[in-house]
Amino acid sequence: SKVTVVGAGNVGATTAQRIHQLGYADVVLVDVVEDLPQGKSLDMLESGPVTGTDALITGSNGYEESAGSDVVVITAGIARRPGMSRDDLLLTNMRITSAVTEEVVKHSPDCIILAVTNPLDAMVQNIFQSSGFPRNRVFGMAGVLDTARYRTFIARELNVSVDDVQAMVLGGHGDDMVPLVRYTTVGCIPLTELLSQDRIDSIVQRTRDGGGEIVALLKQGSAFYAPSAAITQMVQAILLDRKRILPGCAYLEGEYGIDGLCVGVPVKIGGGGMEQVIEISLTDEEHAALRSSAASVQELVDVMAS
Ligand code: NAI
Repeated sequence: SKVTVVGAGNVGATTAQRIHQLGYADVVLVDVVEDLPQGKSLDMLESGPVTGTDALITGSNGYEESAGSDVVVITAGIARRPGMSRDDLLLTNMRITSAVTEEVVKHSPDCIILAVTNPLDAMVQNIFQSSGFPRNRVFGMAGVLDTARYRTFIARELNVSVDDVQAMVLGGHGDDMVPLVRYTTVGCIPLTELLSQDRIDSIVQRTRDGGGEIVALLKQGSAFYAPSAAITQMVQAILLDRKRILPGCAYLEGEYGIDGLCVGVPVKIGGGGMEQVIEISLTDEEHAALRSSAASVQELVDVMAS
């Protein structure tokens, strides 16, 4: 298989490294900065004899080498700095992702696009609409990352393995994301049996602020180790046709009462990309939270259209 990662910055390069190291997909790393993707990919290729992978990885400033990719991950764009919200990136990253999508569609007309650039949901909407692809072939990564943060905080609080924490964070990738406490279990035991409401509330809040917490600590740039791990899990689910049930940002066509908007919901990821939107029953309160998160995404989509 062939995977192209657009954007050779923190998220893109780390993702390329993780996918290359899996060993079963060749990787093309694309960036506008001259020599940067070439240098990083050569460095990664030279790790092969030590990590034991024969997969190829090449860097390019154009898209010819990426032609015929099975999966294209789009991380190109600016990242936030302290004091910025993801929404502050909207118009700059809209222009960048539109230009990138045009090239991707031209060179890899049958690919599956996994969008990562922030503000995530609005960028998925922009990439989906610019691509003209069916919705199963354009979706975004955010929920796997938000869920990984949530699971980490729960596992640390209870001193249990992260493997035993099952959870799902829905909604947009913003301050009003929707961690589904009612569907969170630890070794099959509902979280609400194990932690007080107060402790759960503070974990939910820390999850919502999870990206900002890292931005504040790093002082330059934003998170990329956990994001690249989350992206790689989704790419793997596609390449290996795993049919995994994960939160993903998908274009909804009436599911959850939302029509014509990209928002994070449970989806099935396999060889066909976003093969299915999975509808689960929500309480009125959960549904209201999802709608309110979707309304924030709609505001950004309206700004892009104006
Ligand atoms: P970065 O600044 O390290 O890298 C971005 C790269 O994009 C740079 O190397 C830049 O030269 C490149 N680029 C800019 N315009 C381009 C174009 N037209 N074509 C190709 N490459 C281009 O930023 P980082 O940390 O890698 O983050 C990338 C994006 O991912 C940001 O928008 C960030 O907010 C987002 N992000 C999203 C997450 C999610 O959960 N969806 C998680 C983490 C980051």
